[in-house]
Amino acid sequence: MRHDHLITSKQLSRGDITEVLDHAAEIADDPGAVLEKHAGTLLGLLFFEPSTRTKMSFETAMKRLGGDVVDMGSIESSSVKKGETLADTVRVIEGYADALVLRHPREGAPKMASEYVDVPLVNAGDGAGHHPSQTLLDLYTIRENAGLEDLSVGIMGDLKYGRTVHSLAYALTKFDASQHFISPESLQLPREVVYDLHQNGATVREHGDLESILPTLDVLYVTRIQQERFPDENEYRKVAGEYRIDAGTLEAADDDLTVMHPLPRVDEIAPEVDDTGHAAYFEQAHNGVPVRMALLDLLLGDSDE
Ligand code: NCD
Repeated sequence: MRHDHLITSKQLSRGDITEVLDHAAEIADDPGAVLEKHAGTLLGLLFFEPSTRTKMSFETAMKRLGGDVVDMGSIESSSVKKGETLADTVRVIEGYADALVLRHPREGAPKMASEYVDVPLVNAGDGAGHHPSQTLLDLYTIRENAGLEDLSVGIMGDLKYGRTVHSLAYALTKFDASQHFISPESLQLPREVVYDLHQNGATVREHGDLESILPTLDVLYVTRIQQERFPDENEYRKVAGEYRIDAGTLEAADDDLTVMHPLPRVDEIAPEVDDTGHAAYFEQAHNGVPVRMALLDLLLGDSDE
């Protein structure tokens, strides 16, 4: 991997992405081959926002490569509470760990932090910005279920604040996927993201409802309304509960439609969808382990062998 840090999916070429996905597939086929590859390596976990999947799958990935983690723990129990700056925190923890994973509510925080450290740093989500390791596992899941050629993807829900959406859209542009964005007007993609996607060659098609576009889709990527990022609670209430799919919704879909969701879901996907052949979101979450093993292995390289 030619990158020192993973901050956004924008920095990844199609070749970089394919390298990670191919390596993840190798690891998924034969996890025993890398069992002790990074024995003694420590991954520093710095989560300034809640996380279940991302944090635990990075931890699992590091341990399955033979390493271990050191975890800053909750903000309440760390020196952040005493007013320590992020730049100081990462410089301290870089002395304990061989790589860092950082989630932060402020957009751009991982980029800034990466400028203070020499060990690889992965952005595990920065506010409404980016979440590139999620994108890699999303693409892995898409490749397994629908392939990455001639792909038509619908991305639905909170496109404004959903960082997984922004990261995925940039990456799909590199695979020339046909992208459809389905949301209420108030939660459309930020205009600067649309502009940027256009600059990168994407055709951005925005829709107010799913109905007209659903039959043409290979993948439907559903997202949660990011309640915690709404400046005004009333604005949240206006849109909560819109854009929910159930088994009835999917009757109009292609039999091979793959339904994905980065999780956690609130009520965007009715539980009855879980039992249909469309549901790929639990498989998607599980793919976080081989994909993050591949990513860590490539970022760490042979330096610790
Ligand atoms: C997402 C996130 O944190 O952006 N979760 C995840 O990492 N799988 C999506 C979300 O919180 O809605």
